[in-house]
Amino acid sequence: MPTIFVLNGPNLNLLGKRQPEIYGTDTLADVEARCRAALPEGYALDFRQSNHEGELVDWIQAAREGAEAIVINPAAYTHTSIAILDALNAFEGPVVELHISDVHKRESFRHHSYVSLRADHVIAGHGTDGYTEGLAWVIAALADS
Ligand code: DQA
Repeated sequence: MPTIFVLNGPNLNLLGKRQPEIYGTDTLADVEARCRAALPEGYALDFRQSNHEGELVDWIQAAREGAEAIVINPAAYTHTSIAILDALNAFEGPVVELHISDVHKRESFRHHSYVSLRADHVIAGHGTDGYTEGLAWVIAALADS
């Protein structure tokens, strides 16, 4: 069964409590439940969060064998991590980069994304709805391939 990894970077475990004026009041468990509800039959979802860059790299590497597509909110590592970019460059399936907030309307240090150099599609500023949009995007890409 085609598997989609939804990977979440640092501080997203605090979603719902962390700066709700920016990130909203949904928790990451709420987001995962919405993703599972939106998942069409015949697909598997592996939804994970880590505060550690190396663990995210390990999971992206594992996706080479274990997943057909990746939706990733790399959080702050978006703006700093060449290691995550390199790992994504070693993955062959569709990749969506996702941000809950509109990073381009925030501080200038959030305007640059290493991950965008690899992502096939970027979603930013759609709140937590971006997750189900990201899932729909990769599922359409898999269906087209
Ligand atoms: C974020 C935006 C990043 O700049 C920030 O570091 C995050 C979350 C977002 O979802 O809007 O932690 O990726």
